[in-house]
Formats: sequence, structure tokens, C-alpha cells
Amino acid sequence: MAEREKVVLAYSGGLDTSICIKWLMDEHNMDVIAVAGDVGQEHDGLEPIRQKALNTGAIESYVIDMREEFVNEYLTDAIRANALYENKYPLLSALSRPVISKHLVRIAHEHGAKYIAHGCTGKGNDQVRFETSVWLLDPSIKIIAPVREWPFKTRPEEIEWAAQHGIDVPVTNAKPYSIDDNLWGRAIECGVLEDPWNEPPEDIYTMTGSPEAAPDAPEYVEISFDKGIPCALDGQKMSYIDIIYKLNEIAGRNGYGRLDMIENRLVGVKSRECYEQPAALALITAHKALEDMCLEREVLHYKLGIEQKWAECVYYGQWFAPLKAALDGFIATTQDAVTGTVRVKFYKGTCTVVGRKSDYSLYDYALATYDKEDQFDHAASAGFIELFALPAKVCAQNRAAMKAAE
Ligand code: ARG
Repeated sequence: MAEREKVVLAYSGGLDTSICIKWLMDEHNMDVIAVAGDVGQEHDGLEPIRQKALNTGAIESYVIDMREEFVNEYLTDAIRANALYENKYPLLSALSRPVISKHLVRIAHEHGAKYIAHGCTGKGNDQVRFETSVWLLDPSIKIIAPVREWPFKTRPEEIEWAAQHGIDVPVTNAKPYSIDDNLWGRAIECGVLEDPWNEPPEDIYTMTGSPEAAPDAPEYVEISFDKGIPCALDGQKMSYIDIIYKLNEIAGRNGYGRLDMIENRLVGVKSRECYEQPAALALITAHKALEDMCLEREVLHYKLGIEQKWAECVYYGQWFAPLKAALDGFIATTQDAVTGTVRVKFYKGTCTVVGRKSDYSLYDYALATYDKEDQFDHAASAGFIELFALPAKVCAQNRAAMKAAE
């Protein structure tokens, strides 16, 4: 008898990916290797997840701690790019899929597997990110997406099939939301949130307290960056990952970091998305403030456009594509000067920059002051404006003459 093909499955331990294991075994006649990544998500233990895959029928099951790699190879680029899709969303899911994909491909190679599978639906962005990332790392790999091919429409239908096939089904009624989370934040979708007029209920949030219930006194934090990468809090040197953990705590308890937005998915639908990304948003706010001070004006302005493209590119699953690397090339040339410290104030759901300092600061007191120390050459402005306005002024003169001749 021919040997069964092997498939490496991106596994979360949830109902969908558990059904995927059995589906791949029964419908595709394959041996399943389950891979779960620890990217800092909430969990009740990773060993039970690893074990659950084996109990469900996987021939091999891995839980891989990807946190350091996620922070030091992915969130580094993200902070330098001030990564915000549609100027709002710090891309938490979009950033984790490429690191997970990298491990899926590695393990596929180790086991000689030609197939990789995931549990994403046909309607979201994550399927695009997994498949594109996998193909850009190894174009010969074939993808299987069981959720796109199976007939179940509702969760009860899935539960029934799971029960019939001896899959361990969660006893409690599943949470009414679809959640994806990691160190960089949490995404919450579905349920009552699908009506964009409904205010998000308080119980969707776990990383942030409500701004209304936040402490009455403000909390100040000094965030330091070395070449664009966070390196210290309140003067104390810390690793980037520890800074993220710590800031999630501080910002979260002050009710900062919630987003409620309508977002344009790559697959064409607008969706209502709720996020909480306390550390991510605080770090981007601080990083931008330092750039305001340290980047030359034209570079700063041009970088805004690059950032927008970067975020779109990563949102679209193109982490390993050449455009992403090219944009990183531009960004890299800007970050040597982004070294310094920003003081932020957390207060009832806000994070306000209240101070910044850097050896690379381009802020020049003598040029900026309206006091007697002023060194700015006021007289030079007259000629400057004359030439700067010249093209538009010539145009205005012509149009006025044409109008007069009508
Ligand atoms: N809309 C966000 C994104 O596309 C979050 C996706 C969350 N994923 C999930 N499986 N619930 O990045």
C-alpha cells in the first residue's frame, strides 16, 4: 500500500482546527502533523493543546514558542514602520501569520510533507496571509483549507460532526466571539458586534479595563528607543518583549488601547472590528513623537506614505514579498537617528505625549523661540515666500487676466 501523504496543520486547539485534523485524515486520507505557535496569546496551558491534537488523531504535535522571534524579527519592523492599517489598526493578526507560516514550512520540510493546511474561513484575510507566506517560502507546497471545503455552516453542525467522529468538544458553550490574539493585542469579531450600531459590550475586552473605571490619577511612563526599537522603560534597560508585556499592563489598566472600526478586508468585504492593543498603540504613539523630533522634514513626510504602503502590504499577506523588503530598505535608512526618550501620560483611556528628548533632535531652540535669543533670519523669509509662491502666483495672474477678458 502506498504511504499516506503528510500534511502540516496550523493548529490552535479550538473546534475548527480540531475538526480539521479528522477531516484531513478521513476525507484526504493523510497523516496530520499539528503545529501550534505560542505568540503570546491567552491560553489555559499549551501542553493540553499539544496533547489534544494527538488525541484527535495527529501523528505528531508541536507547540512552538515563537514569542522572541515574533518580537525581534516582526514587531521590530512593525514599530519602525509605525504599522497602522488604514491609519488605525496595528496589524496584530497580519503580523503573526508569517512567523507561524515560517515554522509550518520548516516542519513540512523536516517531515517531507508536501501539504500545509489551515483552519481559516474563505472570507477572511488570514487564509491569504497563510497561503501567500507559505508559497513565498516554498512555492512547491500545496495548500488545503478544510473550512473552505466542508459543508458545515453553523457551529452546532460542526459540533455534531465532531461528536460523531469522537472529537473532544468543549463542554461550555463557545464564547459568542471570534478572537485572535498575541503579544501585540487582541482582535474581537462576530456576535453582537456584527451590527455596527451596537456599542461593544464591556466583556469583549480582557487586556484593557474600561476608561471610565480607570484610576483617577494619571500615570507617566518614559519610553526609550535605540535606532527605532524600544529599549528601556523609565530609564531601566529592558528587552523589547519585556517592554511590550509591561506596557500592555500599564496602558491596559488605564483603559488605553481600544479600537472600534469598520475595516476593509482584502477579500472585498467591510467588517466591523474591535481591537485592544495597549502596548502596540502606546509604542507607535511614542515612536512617531520621537520621529517628529529627529527626522528631517522631507524624510518624515515621505515616510508617512511608505508607512501606509507597508501596512497595506503586510495586511495583504505580503510579508515575504519583494515590496515589503524594498519598503523596509527605505525605513532602515531613517531609523539610526530615532534614538531618544518620550514621556507619555496615560489617563482614563488616553495616551498623550508630554515630553521628548534626543541627541539627534533637530529641534533648535534658537530657531524656534519667539524670545530674545531668536536667531532665525526673519528678513530672509520675504524672498523665500516670493519664490515659493511664484508658480501658483503666475497661474493666478493668468487666470485673473483671462477672466477679465471674458
Ligand atoms: N481583521 C483583522 C485582520 O484581518 C483580525 C483578524 C482576526 N482573525 C481571526 N481569526 N479572528 O488582521
